[in-house]
Amino acid sequence: MRFPMVTASYTCVQEYVTVFTPQSTEPTRDIVTADSADRDQMLMNWPERVWIYSPIRPLFQRREIGKWLKIAKPAKLERVLEIGCGLGRGAALLARKMGFRNVVAFDLEEILIRRARRILPSGLAETVTFFVGDAQDLPFPDAGFDAVVNFGIIHHVLDWRGCIAEISRVLEPGGFFYFEEIYPPLYANFLLKRMLRHPTEDRFYGPDFLTALQSNGLQLQPGVCTDSRFGIVGAARKI
Ligand SMILES: C[S@@+](CC[C@H](N)C(=O)[O-])C[C@H]1O[C@@H](n2cnc3c(N)ncnc32)[C@H](O)[C@@H]1O
Repeated sequence: MRFPMVTASYTCVQEYVTVFTPQSTEPTRDIVTADSADRDQMLMNWPERVWIYSPIRPLFQRREIGKWLKIAKPAKLERVLEIGCGLGRGAALLARKMGFRNVVAFDLEEILIRRARRILPSGLAETVTFFVGDAQDLPFPDAGFDAVVNFGIIHHVLDWRGCIAEISRVLEPGGFFYFEEIYPPLYANFLLKRMLRHPTEDRFYGPDFLTALQSNGLQLQPGVCTDSRFGIVGAARKI
């Protein structure tokens, strides 16, 4: 109380340390069905956090949104789901840049969701909702969303095919799946596979990802979709 500056700095440092701790010891809520070994494989390690928490990351997310809007504007702007939202800065952009009136965003890691709630601009408190959840098992009925957004999380998910099936299930017909995704030549190359932690079994490359979209009734939209050996940015429509 007598040293408010010291207390504030201490809290700041504590928050930084907590957020950068690779695995929280806090229990996750029951909504997460993945067991803890599986969960650990899917979470970011600290070198990846440095990138995802950096102020540059939202600039990339803005750029992807610009590409998506050129490919296909959402037919309806009522309800969007963001999977694996991290700190939630993408969720705020979905409201502000894409114009969604109701943004539901979740992540497997509870500590990120607590942080996302804390840093959400107060003007978006009524628009954006965060929760802890697992992209392999979405706690929503069928066809409840006008759009689903993936800012680069599916390569973290063990059952990535199941995740794409879940995305398709919760999208209403005519709704869009907007995605930015990366492939092993980028995140598991000689250097990065030593630095970053990702699942290693049954990973996908471009053709696998596109086949999974198609077999789940998600039709890739023509336009400025960028697809390379490193990753893809695009949109698919639920048929
Ligand atoms: C590369 S980060 C991307 C974070 C955020 N989308 C962004 O672009 O800044 C991957 C995120 O996916 C989350 N994640 C991994 N597996 C998940 C799962 N099964 N369900 C939900 N989130 C998951 C991680 O906790 C992490 O926050």
